[in-house]
Amino acid sequence: IAPQELNRLLLDWYDRHRRRLPWRAEPGKRADPYHVWLSEIMLQQTTVATVGPYFRRFLELWPTVEDLAAADLDAVLHSWQGLGYYARARNLHKCAQAVAGRHGGVFPDTEAELLTLPGIGAYTAAAIAAIAFDRKATPADGNFERVFARLHAVETPLPDAKPILRGLAAALTPERRPGDHAQAVMDLGATICTPRSPKCMACPWHEPCEARNLGIAADLPRKSPK
Ligand code: ADE
Repeated sequence: IAPQELNRLLLDWYDRHRRRLPWRAEPGKRADPYHVWLSEIMLQQTTVATVGPYFRRFLELWPTVEDLAAADLDAVLHSWQGLGYYARARNLHKCAQAVAGRHGGVFPDTEAELLTLPGIGAYTAAAIAAIAFDRKATPADGNFERVFARLHAVETPLPDAKPILRGLAAALTPERRPGDHAQAVMDLGATICTPRSPKCMACPWHEPCEARNLGIAADLPRKSPK
């Protein structure tokens, strides 16, 4: 099956089943980079359901990145309570100050520049570049690894498989709508291609999925014994 055909199946599915999440733009519109950044930092090690109310509260308190930069660190840490990993909140504040100071309140729009900001690593830089700026970037998180391990029936166990899966995911990242493509893989991983009991019958990649064809979708990705 050709990459263009895989992409068409995925984006058609996304257009019909995309999750409405507080940080997402309306269909066809680009999300605010501040919203994308804030949500991606909050979503590290925290579920979508938990993040929702925190995300809304932060935007009420600090509607722009410049407002967040001007906030008291203590107030930010207080509002972060319950999300855990306070280093993330400290870096959040530092990053807001860097964007407000160095960049005049405007988030940079390339992966390379985003990577220079506090608290923004490879995954987050790719996610912001793709989702906020529709740049061809591949934010390869656990969802991506699972989806692509199954699609291509990659038997190599994690973590060794990481660079392989990253390469397979990058190879499928389209020139058109790369931001929607990234969010479609996230939604597929969260709602259909779940770690246990994947709902293959509802999957847009049902037919081309090599792991499903082999009857081993639920067994992938394999993990090296610790
Ligand atoms: N997990 C990490 N980033 C996400 C996003 N932008 N949407 C949904 N789930 C996510």
